[in-house]
Amino acid sequence: MPGGPTRNADLWLGRARKNDASAAAARQAVAHLKPAVVVTGGSRGIGRAIAQRFASHGHHVAIVARTKDDLKNSALEIERHTGQPVLPITCDLTSPKAFAIISQDLEQAGYFLDVLVNNAGLGLAGPFVEQDETDIAQLVELNILVLTSLSRHALPAMLARRRGGLLNVASLGAYVPGPHQAAYYASKAYVVSLTEAMAVENYGSGVRFCVLAPGPVETRFHAKMGADTARYRRIIPALSPDAVARAAYRGYYFGLRVVAPGWLGPISHAALKILPHPISVPIMAWLLKRDAE
Ligand SMILES: NC(=O)c1ccc[n+]([C@@H]2O[C@H](COP(=O)([O-])OP(=O)(O)OC[C@H]3O[C@@H](n4cnc5c(N)ncnc54)[C@H](OP(=O)(O)O)[C@@H]3O)[C@@H](O)[C@H]2O)c1
Repeated sequence: MPGGPTRNADLWLGRARKNDASAAAARQAVAHLKPAVVVTGGSRGIGRAIAQRFASHGHHVAIVARTKDDLKNSALEIERHTGQPVLPITCDLTSPKAFAIISQDLEQAGYFLDVLVNNAGLGLAGPFVEQDETDIAQLVELNILVLTSLSRHALPAMLARRRGGLLNVASLGAYVPGPHQAAYYASKAYVVSLTEAMAVENYGSGVRFCVLAPGPVETRFHAKMGADTARYRRIIPALSPDAVARAAYRGYYFGLRVVAPGWLGPISHAALKILPHPISVPIMAWLLKRDAE
């Protein structure tokens, strides 16, 4: 029997598709283009490894960063490893035109934005009060404003097509305040909160929402933010970007809401959620403190 309580239950549970005709029309509108996975900050580190992982599974990939030569070299390297063409998009994501630039470059190359990996991010170490105001503003702009704005721009078309998704890169630091990296940890808490809320708002929409929450990963990130002498660098083993990318890809495709890579990831994730802040925050303060402080 079409309709009736079973159909309503299916719709409510997100198992059935409402208004499939409009989704078909939205897909038809991009039928002349190929779906692409766009990875922000895809020129090095975790972003590059995620781009390579998607490409190795046969996806069309575009990588976005500011430094043209790094971007071109990474695109060529990924192509060499995977045999898939990779589109480099040179763009400062803090530009108000960033989404327009990405969309235009994609369309010119024959792609549409199917999966957005919001990976580009900045860290900042040291006591909050001693940090430069401009550096803090740049961190908030990239880690929070850019991710929010790109997600908001990308989502309507994904929802209309009932396909694609957002893979937002946070950190295990999202689950606890981080003295000596206060603004960075707070920015990643925002990423988890936003992504999980969007996932529930759009449950059953056919669009995936996944948040990646790694612990320390061996990239230039720590040196760049001035955290190389922090205790956690000596005590906590850092994962390789490839291991993180493997877990991210698998988690995204299995429909996990949160991916905490590595064997220590799920344990730390659970511990940070269970431990009360009067216990966990002083531990974080000790781990994040740098030699000179
Ligand atoms: N490494 C870790 O231990 C770790 C742990 C947990 C979470 N994370 C998160 O993982 C993400 C990636 O970290 P990572 O370690 O791979 O960092 P990374 O090695 O420093 O790479 C950052 C990437 O972002 C790009 N980028 C920076 N600012 C940009 C801007 N304004 N516009 C466009 N691209 C920009 C960089 O290229 P250009 O400089 O050329 O623009 C580069 O491709 C971040 O969100 C970070 O918070 C990292």
